[in-house]
Amino acid sequence: MIQFSKVNKWYGDYHALVDVTAEVGRGQVVVVCGPSGSGKSTLIRTVNRLEEIQNGTIRLDNQDIHSPALNLNKFRSHVGFVFQQFNLFPHLSALDNVCLAPVKVAAKSKSEAKSKAMSLLERVGLAHKAGAYPQQLSGGQQQRVAIARALAMDPPVMLFDEPTSALDPEMVGEVLNVMKGLARDGMTMVCVTHEMNFAREVADRVWFMDKGAILEEASPVDFFASPQHPRARAFLSDLRSH
Ligand SMILES: Nc1ncnc2c1ncn2[C@@H]1O[C@H](COP(=O)(O)OP(=O)(O)OP(=O)(O)O)[C@@H](O)[C@H]1O
Ligand SMILES: [Mg+2]
Repeated sequence: MIQFSKVNKWYGDYHALVDVTAEVGRGQVVVVCGPSGSGKSTLIRTVNRLEEIQNGTIRLDNQDIHSPALNLNKFRSHVGFVFQQFNLFPHLSALDNVCLAPVKVAAKSKSEAKSKAMSLLERVGLAHKAGAYPQQLSGGQQQRVAIARALAMDPPVMLFDEPTSALDPEMVGEVLNVMKGLARDGMTMVCVTHEMNFAREVADRVWFMDKGAILEEASPVDFFASPQHPRARAFLSDLRSH
């Protein structure tokens, strides 16, 4: 579904992605972990071209996504991206936030977009909050609306960049549960997260990054029981001591 092949990226002189070659299979859940500044966000942001790369290729569903011929706006609106900050439109209700892209970008009729948005809000447990504005919702509820909004464009893959890091602890579980449901339904997902229990339960593969490179790629069982790379071992023992 997603293939990174010898991907390199620099920010000026800084080599932010170093020869990344990796693959996400259809329906797989990949958890990307690693220390701060290791390139996790940079890596997943290349998948919907929020970041350009200097060499290598990235294919999504066999399409070269850094090809100059790509229609960027159309492409981007179809790849689901959920950020740490939910970025809902404050002046729109939950329902209208979810309807916006289908109506504006995909030219769906309002009634079609609305009925789909309602079923997505139901899927994230928020049908009863359809008319609420973002400021009337908790952080966890806003993040679940953001997930519904991303799903509204029928994305082939969902990318998550620390979706629970900005939440109060009591709201983390409700967002992870929605993500678990998506995984169970067969969604292809790449998740940057420090939630190692989520990785253990849900991930098919774990990628450990450091200094712009994927140093280890393993099943969660192997990664947590016997990390091979010394820096992966150090990272896990740091996490555990916190
Ligand atoms: N726009 C930018 N310009 C210059 N350097 C950048 C830019 N964005 C990121 N970097 C650098 O690239 C490196 C990787 O950053 P990135 O945000 O991908 O790390 P990360 O693994 O997501 O970290 P964190 O866990 O803190 O979110 C860091 O050293 C960062 O300072
Ligand atoms: Mg990051």
